[in-house]
Amino acid sequence: MMNKEDYKFSFDVYDSIDDMQENDRLLLKDAIEVTKAAYAPYSKFNVGAIAKLVNGEFVKGTNQENASYPVGICAERSLLATAASLFPGIAIETMAITYNNLEGESDHPISPCGMCRQVLVEYEQRVKRPIRLILGGIEGKVYIIEKARMLLPLSFTSEDME
Ligand code: THU
Repeated sequence: MMNKEDYKFSFDVYDSIDDMQENDRLLLKDAIEVTKAAYAPYSKFNVGAIAKLVNGEFVKGTNQENASYPVGICAERSLLATAASLFPGIAIETMAITYNNLEGESDHPISPCGMCRQVLVEYEQRVKRPIRLILGGIEGKVYIIEKARMLLPLSFTSEDME
């Protein structure tokens, strides 16, 4: 026997940053500020992320590139490593991610890369709470995704090794 399985998820789409609820808007604006700390001399694509933790603390992350290109790390993973180091075991409520494309437009949301999705999923599992994602650019639409794991269906996790 064979069945077709569906995977479907819903997310909120705001037409512009100005349409968002205040707290989310402020977090995304902070993320735009955070892009200034990116080190992206090769791609000129500055990514900034900021997370609000459940204990009220904020943690930032930016992409940090390297002349040996694959060594570079994305803003999301740099944030998660920082959060886990400074506040071990503390869950992340919401993470806002944005970018400043120095050689192009910054007018649509970007979504975490595959490697970052894998790390986001494991972070959610470790602290037993979903991470809410706010994805935007400097202008344009904004996406809000309630659980990072929705971005990685059929993911491989530690449970697969039990
Ligand atoms: N990058 C991030 O930091 N986060 C993303 O979600 C997408 C890509 C970085 C990696 C690299 O430094 C630059 O953006 C261009 O790919």
